[in-house]
Amino acid sequence: QYKAIILVGGPSRATRFRPLSLDVPKPLFPVAGAPIISHHLAALSKVEGLQEVLIIGFFEDSVFTRFLEDAANEYPHINIRYLREYQSLGTAGGLFHFRDEILRGNPQQFFVMHVDIACSFPLNEMMAAHMKHRGLCTMLSTKVPRDQATKYGCLVAKPDTNEVLHYVEKPETFISDLISCGVYLFDTAVFGEMRKAIERKKDVHHEESDYLWTSSDDRLRLEQDLLRPLSESRKLYVYVTENFWRQIKTASSAIPANAAYLEQCARENPSRLAHNKPDGPEIIGAVYIHPSAQVDPTAKIGPNVSIGSRVHIGKGVRIKDSIILDNVQIGNAGCVLHSVIGWNSKIGAWARVEGTPISDHNTSMMSNGVKSQSITILGKEVSVMDETIIRNCIVLPHKELKSSFHSEILM
Ligand code: GDD
Ligand code: GTP
Repeated sequence: QYKAIILVGGPSRATRFRPLSLDVPKPLFPVAGAPIISHHLAALSKVEGLQEVLIIGFFEDSVFTRFLEDAANEYPHINIRYLREYQSLGTAGGLFHFRDEILRGNPQQFFVMHVDIACSFPLNEMMAAHMKHRGLCTMLSTKVPRDQATKYGCLVAKPDTNEVLHYVEKPETFISDLISCGVYLFDTAVFGEMRKAIERKKDVHHEESDYLWTSSDDRLRLEQDLLRPLSESRKLYVYVTENFWRQIKTASSAIPANAAYLEQCARENPSRLAHNKPDGPEIIGAVYIHPSAQVDPTAKIGPNVSIGSRVHIGKGVRIKDSIILDNVQIGNAGCVLHSVIGWNSKIGAWARVEGTPISDHNTSMMSNGVKSQSITILGKEVSVMDETIIRNCIVLPHKELKSSFHSEILM
């Protein structure tokens, strides 16, 4: 018997996802035609013996009401609930706070997943790896480019046993290019270790208290307060995936996540994607088009494009590597490349909205030593005049753009 917890955080944490987080909480932002969190559920639904999914965060309950109704219809055999923290409790505080809910029904193990990632979620493989050792946790790990590693939790593992020898959260200098993906499988006995972590935290004189958080509240960090001590006592193991993994922190990082899920869909469930038809638009590679969208047959779409509901796409339009959210209109011969187009936006005829492609795991560009925007993002209800060019810009909601702009944040 298994359970799973999805950590969704709360409203204050999504600032880097602006301007899109102004209109939808990040877990519900659509990539590859479905909310970010629904890709986690789809993976969990393939785990045999999974009884319950607990979504833990500090958003208002109402945020997930609609989503939970839809999820209950789609996955009638799994009990899916939202549990709200009374304040931000950190990445492990919520687990401890809701331990009775997690332990109800006596599951042996439970998954913990961060919401802000796109991943192939090799959960069955993690379960198989977990059965082969005596540790309390198997963490999913992947290799990232060396210069990106220190943005993540880094680990050093023993190659033959997969035992984690060192775990350091966002180290100052490079220690390893193996990083934590934010997906874990825990034995329920880990609650004993959490209790110890809380005791260490209360004991301000404890010599190890430097890696513990404040002592006055219920907050607990999974990484520093729990995983690091687990690795020190050799109870932490790793499963390294060769398959795709992406973090979704900024709005720009939704584009590579969208591409990864669309490509996965093309391999595993191609009927969900758009196909070339004699009377339809030209489709290149993996493209999702909502059934209610209207796309002119002379348009050319793809690869890596998601088109939301009620979208209207005119004649001769070209779209590539982009997310077009619900109810957007794109005029004749418009061109959208490497961009996210917010809900209800209007792009005029012959207008061009484009960003610059980004490399893996790195969602901003450096130009002359300055970080600059690479993907173009239009917030909700932005309008772009005919025959203008918007390149490498972030545009806040409700803006009317009447001329061309280049490398600007338009407020
Ligand atoms: N319920 C709840 N409560 N969830 C939270 C809270 C909280 O107080 N704080 C963060 N989360 C959720 C976020 O929504 C996200 O899904 C996850 O926990 C991790 O978020 P961060 O705390 O922002 O950490 P990070 O993403 O910078 O780094 C973590 O994830 C990396 C992989 O994406 C670390 O675990 C790294 O070691 C890891 O490499
Ligand atoms: P790449 O895939 O980028 O190598 O381009 P390509 O030369 O192979 O052509 P592709 O069929 O992929 O895309 C058509 C190209 O038309 C795009 O790359 C755009 O640069 C270009 N284009 C420029 N302006 C417009 C426009 O207003 N409308 C349309 N439909 N296309 C435009």
